[in-house]
Amino acid sequence: MTLDENLVAHVHKNYASYTYDMFMMNMSADLEEIDLFGEWFNILNDKNLYTFEAIRSAAQKPEIDLKRKNGDDIHIINLSSYNYLGFSYHPDVIKAAQDAVGKYGLGASSSPVISGTYKIHQELEQALEKFFALPDRGVSLFTAGYSVNLGVISAFIKPGHQVIMDQASHMSIVEGAKLSGGEVSYFRHNDMAHLEELLKEKCDDFTRVLVCVEGLYSGDGDFGNLKEVVRLAKQYGAFTLIDEAHSALVAGENGRGVSEMQGVLEDVDLYVMTFSKAFGGVGGAVYAKKNIINYINWYAKCRMFSCALDPAVTGGMVKVVELAMEPIGYERRKRVIDNANYFRSLLQGKVDLGVSEGWVVIVNFGSESKTLALNNYLQKTGLDTSIIQFPAVPKNEARIRMFITSEHTHEQLKRAADIVIEAAEKFDFKTN
Ligand SMILES: Cc1ncc(COP(=O)(O)O)c(C=O)c1O
Repeated sequence: MTLDENLVAHVHKNYASYTYDMFMMNMSADLEEIDLFGEWFNILNDKNLYTFEAIRSAAQKPEIDLKRKNGDDIHIINLSSYNYLGFSYHPDVIKAAQDAVGKYGLGASSSPVISGTYKIHQELEQALEKFFALPDRGVSLFTAGYSVNLGVISAFIKPGHQVIMDQASHMSIVEGAKLSGGEVSYFRHNDMAHLEELLKEKCDDFTRVLVCVEGLYSGDGDFGNLKEVVRLAKQYGAFTLIDEAHSALVAGENGRGVSEMQGVLEDVDLYVMTFSKAFGGVGGAVYAKKNIINYINWYAKCRMFSCALDPAVTGGMVKVVELAMEPIGYERRKRVIDNANYFRSLLQGKVDLGVSEGWVVIVNFGSESKTLALNNYLQKTGLDTSIIQFPAVPKNEARIRMFITSEHTHEQLKRAADIVIEAAEKFDFKTN
């Protein structure tokens, strides 16, 4: 036995206060941490507290049926999918995906640099170039949003360079920076004075500095201060990577993200988007100056040494970009914002909404020891959310995260808000 005995006892007695890092350490050759995780998993299943991986039998619509791991069938209001504009199940998008698979087959069957680039990939690149509409820019496609950050940061930054990132940055940014071999430093979330302090120091010591931030932070639900980030980066001679995973297609008059909303799109060096959120598909892309794109196509290793995006999704994404430029895109963008404001107004003053201000609505409840029972209660009462806790957010700052879409009705949002307010009383949520 090399695992900490206190941990073993804790897992058995306090299985409900789970944290992700609990099962990450073990110095021995035995698979003790894996076995212990299995025990924890079985305890949760036995107690009917395993609320994850509930099976959906249809598209991510605002209301759906779920089959829980234990076989229970439940009907829920769906605030746990980031299908913000409902495009994943738009009939034209499905038809475009079907046409593409009919024409090109199921898989791309090669790396994009070898023989995996099809006409449909070129069409998607061109559609995105038209959508963002800046001169001399190009697009590099990846098979996951996660891979975009991993590949782009590790290609752009070398050992001896510096990455400065917001401490709330997504894991893919953190891992991309680690993989690059560059030095990494973190500034307090959205704290521009702290960023400037780091820029002053690091831009003197390092030849290349990349500042990584997000358009809309999915753990806190607030917008990045992109205007100030871009201004500071320029002043000190650093580059910027803006991850618009949760904001591309949604934020800004034309859906070009928080960069458009704050008037800095042209000054962003590396604009990251993922197709898994408002695009309703899977995969992602970086939008940047053409010479940077050419380099990334070759030196982002998870792109170069991996099969190209599949034709069906690529075809679907072409249609989504077209829709985003049509009246339906403008209407749905407006509706998602109206819906988020309406939902927030129902909760305001009754629960702690933290700093959330966009279509990711956060309700802080505090201790992670409540997470499993709370999630179980919410699901059974008819609401599916995405609860996050340490280490995704600081200790004792566990929170309910709810993704609002353009397709929710006010009636659904009212029912969802009532459930959250009832849960707040029942589970004694932290208040501000
Ligand atoms: C900010 C951010 N970047 C990147 C990703 C990864 O995207 P994907 O799920 O498409 O791989 C996510 C996913 O949640 C994200 O929130």
